[in-house]
Amino acid sequence: MGDLFSLKDRVAIVTGSTRGIGYATARLMGRAGARIVISSRKPAACDEVAARLAGEGIETAAIPCHVGNDADLRALVEKTMERFGRIDTVVANAAVNPVFALLHEFTEDTWDKIFDVDLKSAWRLARYALPHIAAHGEGGSMTLLSSTASVLAAPRSGAYAVAKAGINHLALQLASEWGKAGIRINAVAPGVTRTDMIRAGLADEAAMQAAVARIPLDRIAEPEDIGAVILFLATRAGRHLTGQTIVVDGGATLVGG
Ligand SMILES: NC(=O)c1ccc[n+]([C@@H]2O[C@H](COP(=O)([O-])OP(=O)(O)OC[C@H]3O[C@@H](n4cnc5c(N)ncnc54)[C@H](OP(=O)(O)O)[C@@H]3O)[C@@H](O)[C@H]2O)c1
Repeated sequence: MGDLFSLKDRVAIVTGSTRGIGYATARLMGRAGARIVISSRKPAACDEVAARLAGEGIETAAIPCHVGNDADLRALVEKTMERFGRIDTVVANAAVNPVFALLHEFTEDTWDKIFDVDLKSAWRLARYALPHIAAHGEGGSMTLLSSTASVLAAPRSGAYAVAKAGINHLALQLASEWGKAGIRINAVAPGVTRTDMIRAGLADEAAMQAAVARIPLDRIAEPEDIGAVILFLATRAGRHLTGQTIVVDGGATLVGG
């Protein structure tokens, strides 16, 4: 198998990598040999996580970035180039789902904020980062975090779900445009995953049991379950895969979610 699953000497940016799925992804990519840019809104959290992973022998840089802010995203890419001189893989992971309401109850302001953070950010990151991947001519990848909410109706999470459906199409559109440059772009759509994002919703035992009952593989995902698929997509093992949305949900959508 050689280096099929290696990211040795590659440079990866993972947005929202101080916690949850982003952190698990950054750690797995680092253990596969990549140099990792740790990023989130909070500088202290970025520094702490970058230092923690450095303690495991992973080369890291901490570059804070609010993905809803265009200047931050541009700076994230520029500072990565200053620090490492190249970019090979980008994971557009950071997202929020802050308002639970019916669609007609959303204000325009809330709708726009969710779309800025959960969808427009990925397009902006692609604009800034993909030309740098193309420039070195060795190929690379971008993975966008979607959700099973993109393929099923998500009660009271409509703006998030519509933004995530946009992510799936953004991945295939970008894939069609960047394939000749050797860049593969895919979306990964997790089901319920044990992170801060869903902690409140599954706080009591009954809610957790109801969630697990809907999943053929009989458990919710751990962040590493999702990170492992994102890692695979970034390595040579995923080299003929592009434009896809890969659902990682223990089979939940097979039986209606
Ligand atoms: N957990 C699930 O069940 C689930 C299911 C389907 C899809 N997903 C998707 O998976 C991805 C990761 O979710 P998660 O559950 O790992 O989330 P999480 O545990 O809430 O972690 C989110 C990460 O993103 C950062 N972040 C939040 N808002 C940000 C912003 N505006 N700019 C930059 N960074 C930001 C957070 O750090 P700071 O707070 O320090 O900024 C943190 O590092 C998201 O795209 C989510 O939609 C999750």
